[in-house]
Amino acid sequence: MLPAQQKDLFGHSNQGENYDKFRPVYPQEFFDIILKNTVDRENYIDVACGTGQLLFELNNSFKFSLGTDISPKQIEVTNQKIQKKNLQDSVQAIVCDAHSLQQISKEKGLPHTYDLVTIGQALHWFDTQKFFTEVSRNIMKQNHTSVFAVTGYFCRGFDYIVGENRFEEDQTIYNEFYDKVKEHFDCDRENLSLGYVGYDFSKEFKEIEKVETVINTPCSIFEMVKYLKTYSAYNTLLEKNKGNNGFIDPILKFEEDVTKKVQEIQKTSQSQFQNPIRMKTSYFLRIFKRL
Ligand SMILES: C[S@@+](CC[C@H](N)C(=O)[O-])C[C@H]1O[C@@H](n2cnc3c(N)ncnc32)[C@H](O)[C@@H]1O
Repeated sequence: MLPAQQKDLFGHSNQGENYDKFRPVYPQEFFDIILKNTVDRENYIDVACGTGQLLFELNNSFKFSLGTDISPKQIEVTNQKIQKKNLQDSVQAIVCDAHSLQQISKEKGLPHTYDLVTIGQALHWFDTQKFFTEVSRNIMKQNHTSVFAVTGYFCRGFDYIVGENRFEEDQTIYNEFYDKVKEHFDCDRENLSLGYVGYDFSKEFKEIEKVETVINTPCSIFEMVKYLKTYSAYNTLLEKNKGNNGFIDPILKFEEDVTKKVQEIQKTSQSQFQNPIRMKTSYFLRIFKRL
């Protein structure tokens, strides 16, 4: 178990905006499943909301929605979106450590309990048992209808598009990049890639639904590079090497190698594709109720 994240690993310059533009989006099916399981629709809380990837897909179904995140930068972007969407009356976003949700809600005069609690792509940063106790005993409504929905995703690399509905699989370049950054993930990344099977939900929750899916998204090299730049591990690596003249940025090598390979493919196939690769992303969703 990892200690809860203390520093703001998602507060790097432009990371909020880039996160918003270049991260994969959750499948619509996941939102339908979450709502199908949530009968009461008064209060909704999205924990570690980032820039609102779950929050703004689900808020319309609830009277009041709250986004919380430890990163002021992410909350700043979320608040700008609340203003832009004119949602100030029904949605709020606050900086808050996920392990002290009830205390901070009380201090700020916000609702204390919720019909739906979501967490996307963040549990692997947390002290899970402490967080599970907080959610189940303090934040969920103490009935049998409130729902805890846990979701996440991980990139499995990418394929090259070599023709119409024809793809070439080769993970070498992605793996080379990943091997350079992975030790700088300050979280339990392995458990994320296992759909959180290593966490013991059973002390507080019973699982009522589980879904897994892989989505292939055609994209440009630029978009793939921008996505990889949102990895917190990549940003930590850059920070650790500030002022190191001998440091070679792994993303530059990645971009160079992929471009070269794409040029070779396009030369051989004599075709140009606007999106020459497709990103492969695994998604999972797990739905729980209190014991
Ligand atoms: C990868 S982002 C996920 C954002 C969004 N939920 C999504 O599904 O894309 C992880 C988020 O968890 C937040 N986070 C990490 N530790 C936290 C903690 N202890 N309390 C609250 N938020 C935390 C980070 O600041 C970051 O915004």
